[in-house]
Amino acid sequence: MTTRQGHPVTDNQNIRTIGNRGPATLENYHFIEKISHFDRERIPERVVHARGAGAHGVFEAYGKVGDEPIAKYTRAKLFQEKGKQTPVFVRFSTVGHGGHSPETLRDPRGFAVKFYTEDGNWDLVGNNLKIFFIRDAMKFPDLIHSQKPDPVTNIQSGERIFDFIANTPEATHMATFLFSPWGIPANYRQMQGSGVNTYKWVNADGQAVLVKYHWEPLQGIRNLTQAEAESIQAKNFNHATQDLFEAIKEGNYPEWELCVQIMSDDDHPELDFDPLDDTKLWPADQFPFLPVGKMTLNRNPVDYFNEVEQSAFGTGVLVDGLEFSDDKMLQGRTFSYSDTQRYRVGANYLQLPINAPKNQVVTNQRGGQMSFHSDFGQGQNPHINYEPSTLNNVKEAPKAGKDYEPRYEANLVRQKIDRTNDFKQAGETYRNFEDWERDDLITNLVNTLATADKRIQDKMIEHFTLADADYGRRVAEGLAKTSKSQEDKGPIGAISPEAGVKDAKQKSH
Ligand code: HEM
Repeated sequence: MTTRQGHPVTDNQNIRTIGNRGPATLENYHFIEKISHFDRERIPERVVHARGAGAHGVFEAYGKVGDEPIAKYTRAKLFQEKGKQTPVFVRFSTVGHGGHSPETLRDPRGFAVKFYTEDGNWDLVGNNLKIFFIRDAMKFPDLIHSQKPDPVTNIQSGERIFDFIANTPEATHMATFLFSPWGIPANYRQMQGSGVNTYKWVNADGQAVLVKYHWEPLQGIRNLTQAEAESIQAKNFNHATQDLFEAIKEGNYPEWELCVQIMSDDDHPELDFDPLDDTKLWPADQFPFLPVGKMTLNRNPVDYFNEVEQSAFGTGVLVDGLEFSDDKMLQGRTFSYSDTQRYRVGANYLQLPINAPKNQVVTNQRGGQMSFHSDFGQGQNPHINYEPSTLNNVKEAPKAGKDYEPRYEANLVRQKIDRTNDFKQAGETYRNFEDWERDDLITNLVNTLATADKRIQDKMIEHFTLADADYGRRVAEGLAKTSKSQEDKGPIGAISPEAGVKDAKQKSH
């Protein structure tokens, strides 16, 4: 055993004192190093998605998209050859509560994948559900504040959650998923993932298509009713982390197939929704799920803090052949992730092994807190940390293909998109559920809305009715039977006594 200075530690049990009962001395380097490091063991937790679990693995490309050569749509190198392997790191998470909160809570689940490609890192930062509550990044802090604990009581409140949702009609579809069993995946291995936002693929000729990404678990899909989640939570609030860690430790490696949906790169006036609207599903019959590769998670982290807590994913982290779309959520997210990580982890977060790309990094960025190496290129003159230069051999990289150069012509405005169509797909999703899923949804909505102000209840009933008459009627009837009482106030989703775990295998939303 040594100190961090490399000095041998010969006594790790006793601080240095004057006599064995006397006051301590301040020059006790070993003790002060140990205790002051302990005092700094925590960094700020993620403002959302604080509770997570991670694993390493590999992505293997199929070399095609469905039956077509993938190069027709994207030149991204990781997808081109059949059997090509790219190392990955994945972090799964819940969203709303803190770093050690129960993993049984009703909440979207994060599904963030870092691909360490030969062209640098690609982060696909997704959730288990395929849609989201809002379609404009401006609303994200308000959405999250409504779902986080009340700033006075520090307790999450169903009334606050539905106060926001009732005033945000586009959230009706997401609320329909979230309050159904799809809002509590049974574990991380048996859940889907989705990029949610619309991205683009670009081929060697600089032509683009719109694309959505989806992970389909080869273990099948399993969700929990509220009652099942509660019985797990009574005994174990780490069940999803434990399930993932133990499966990998036992060699039972979880796998997901990566599928894409593709649309031509235009506004699609023939659709009744905007392809850039993340509150909508792209109907699978019109835009089929096309497999492009498979991911296997086969290695647990050695150190949770170093690998999982300090990992940093962002929607801005794309490789050549992958592009952003104008999806306003995606544009807002892309600023937010690396901004928060410079604060949460530090200015040099990309030097940490979990975040650093596996190809060679060559920049002129130097210094900053905790900088511990320089991004020197091969044969680089260490005196020259600028470019262009005659004294250095670091040059810009050659282009991999024609640039994608979209053309814009419009006034600069603050406006919502057309074709908002806030309720139709919520109704379709409601009707597509199986009976047990619909029953659990109604029970959970009624139990949570019962704690809310009557004006919020009425607005929600109106929105559910606009989605589907039966949906609205059942929530209204449930609420009429449940009078609002102070005792009802509690965490979202209360008890559904008759329910049990159900298997949603093969079914995909
Ligand atoms: C984490 C912002 C929407 C998925 C985060 C973090 C921030 C953030 C600040 C913490 C990152 C960190 O500390 O490393 C936003 C903003 C959004 C938005 C501003 C909307 C404008 C979404 C959506 C999804 C999503 C739509 C789903 C596709 C995630 C995931 C994480 C995360 C999975 C956790 C990543 C990890 O495991 O480290 N988000 N987010 N976010 N977000 Fe978002």
